[in-house]
Amino acid sequence: MNSVTLPAHAKLNLTLDILRRRPDGYHDMLMVMQSVSLHDDVTVALTGGTEIVCRCGDIPGDESNLAVKAARAFFARTGMEPRGPLLDIEKHTPARAGMAGGSSDAAATLRALRKLLRPEMLGEELERIGATVGSDVPYCLRGGTALAEGRGERLTTLRAAPPFYAVLCKPDFDISTPLLFSRVRVSELWNRPDTNGMLAALHRGDADGVLLRVKNVFENVLPPEYAEVFTIKERFHALGAAACAMTGSGPTVYGLYRDMAAAEAAYDALRERYAQTFLTQFV
Ligand code: C5P
Repeated sequence: MNSVTLPAHAKLNLTLDILRRRPDGYHDMLMVMQSVSLHDDVTVALTGGTEIVCRCGDIPGDESNLAVKAARAFFARTGMEPRGPLLDIEKHTPARAGMAGGSSDAAATLRALRKLLRPEMLGEELERIGATVGSDVPYCLRGGTALAEGRGERLTTLRAAPPFYAVLCKPDFDISTPLLFSRVRVSELWNRPDTNGMLAALHRGDADGVLLRVKNVFENVLPPEYAEVFTIKERFHALGAAACAMTGSGPTVYGLYRDMAAAEAAYDALRERYAQTFLTQFV
């Protein structure tokens, strides 16, 4: 076997809270993460060459691509020669959208390289390599419903969230993650998520309790030029969403639905205005 194709699932933040700024410039986070069915397809082929080559649609295949960074980190950590992996990424998840698109490609690349070259490598070791690539990569390796702490790399797998439909809607602009973090004054944050309440609701399998506690503290520090995020939230409320929030550092907004017909109607309505709208399920 010298080629493997794996799905790289997008994620949502059911909650996102920021606890403190750390001396290393990062922030300690408290986030409930959820993977959804929207995914890229990542093929890793061992060609026997000496270079890591990445084909990724319009997205650069150079060192700035987290999948390339992940492949390089895998070979550095294992001490193996890079046997010319060709990374072929079929993109479906928008980049710089708060859905961990790049991080999930990196995670799929790591899982594929393990499968091809080091099947005995433990998940913990792969997560350690992932953490050197990006804060969201360890979660993307695990997927499902999980609590992420620290930079995002300290994970606790949770009971799977109730099976909601999620409609994702990305407006036509990007938000820089470092820029948004730079606007955070932790002591001044308000309207923060009730993470303990969310964890208890997930544990009980209480769908209403989960829906009630969906919240992202980054919404409080959005610069005024990104107000369209709130316009989309209003549209979701008008379209009967049971809960809605921005995911990660945005700008994607998601609405949750219990019922597929209502989710489809919201998807159809939002897609008329926003080309990057997706109908997904929790996975
Ligand atoms: O780790 P990653 O490269 O994904 O982070 C991108 C940037 O986001 C960091 O350089 C930092 O500015 C910010 N960040 C942060 N605290 C985190 C995660 C990211 O301040 N927990």
